[in-house]
Amino acid sequence: MKAIYLIGFMGAGKTSVSRKLAEALTVSHYDTDHEIVEAAGKSINDIFASEGEAEFREIESAVLKRMPQHDAVIATGGGIVVAEENRRQMKSTGTVIFLYAEIGEILQRLEGDNSRPLLQEKKLEAAQSLYISRLPIYRQTAHIEIDTASKSISEIVKEIIVSMN
Ligand code: S3P
Repeated sequence: MKAIYLIGFMGAGKTSVSRKLAEALTVSHYDTDHEIVEAAGKSINDIFASEGEAEFREIESAVLKRMPQHDAVIATGGGIVVAEENRRQMKSTGTVIFLYAEIGEILQRLEGDNSRPLLQEKKLEAAQSLYISRLPIYRQTAHIEIDTASKSISEIVKEIIVSMN
């Protein structure tokens, strides 16, 4: 099986869905954010604060390059698609699945979450404009789009498996 990459905005459910999907397919599970934290030895907030977003993106692209290309489900950070090289790599080496959720739903899910540096200040405005700018990029990168609205994690996992067959 070619690697499966889950893409989508922060709070779309990539991490939870990817874990269950990997379990269902009995393949390994990876999360690029987790790999970045391991590689840098500090939290994402700390990387953004001390090195800045550009350095975070460098590490993110390097981590993506090291991911297995077979028998793996890989959850990615919401901004991984911004770099053209990352889009190209995911699209050419695996199946890319976009988890779509509406911005209103996402904002509700992320209420009170302090782990995402891009949403710390001017939360609403920043999130909305990022969302609008990234939506077409997710769609252009994905082989499959799954609407997550009012679906449980297991329903989403089933839908992914059906849509890949
Ligand atoms: C980011 C999304 C985050 C994380 C970082 C930047 C983004 O991952 O990589 O805070 O630019 O959208 P999640 O999508 O897992 O929250």
